[in-house]
Amino acid sequence: MAESAEGEVILSPYRSEDELPELIALMEMDLSEPYTVFTYRYFIRNWPHLCILARCNGKLVGAVIARESPVARTVDNIGYIAMLAVDKSQRRKGIGQRLVERVIEVMLLRCHAVELEAEHVNLGAIRLYERLGFVRTHRMCRYYLNGSDAFKLKKIFRPLKLTEDEDEPAEPEPVVDAAAAVEPSPVSA
Ligand SMILES: CC(C)(COP(=O)(O)OP(=O)(O)OC[C@H]1O[C@@H](n2cnc3c(N)ncnc32)[C@H](O)[C@@H]1OP(=O)(O)O)[C@@H](O)C(=O)NCCC(=O)NCCS
Repeated sequence: MAESAEGEVILSPYRSEDELPELIALMEMDLSEPYTVFTYRYFIRNWPHLCILARCNGKLVGAVIARESPVARTVDNIGYIAMLAVDKSQRRKGIGQRLVERVIEVMLLRCHAVELEAEHVNLGAIRLYERLGFVRTHRMCRYYLNGSDAFKLKKIFRPLKLTEDEDEPAEPEPVVDAAAAVEPSPVSA
């Protein structure tokens, strides 16, 4: 593989399991939660297009791991950024911001919004996300294993698009049996 020019940081999607040990080592250096290899595989195998790696002369210097999932009764997905880290020696050079911007570019195809949690004392990460238009939606008490609180941060790209069925007002259900009408349904809606 050809090397990038001195100092140039190249972003690319995750390609193969060979990259996993390096990726885990980078993430484990700073993240507030310990994740098993199964958690990494869950994200990377299901949404490899949302795992973006930053390399400088072949060395992994940053990464973002995310997923997208459907929003019920809509045609949209919602994005979720699970992990973001940049090697200590490469911080404050814009790599973290580029990674988040790139993963959002990919999410824009199918997602109406993206969200994540950040430890309430992680002011650097919170500033990075707020610069990109994320807002704090709520604070979750003792969210992390270390007892620390988290902020939920969210950026909305566009309004949710309902499925066609949801645009129509629902027909009232015909009441066939008066007794059944007052019993709670055994199946949730
Ligand atoms: C958070 C993290 C990913 C930022 O990566 P980075 O490449 O250093 O960030 P960038 O250089 O793209 O910063 C973009 C902007 O975010 C803000 N920012 C980033 N780190 C900051 C810090 N330590 N203090 C204050 N602001 C910070 C600044 O506004 C910065 O712009 P500026 O440098 O022009 O002032 C990195 O510090 C990291 O890996 N931390 C440990 C893991 C972590 O906390 N992940 C986030 C979990 S939610």
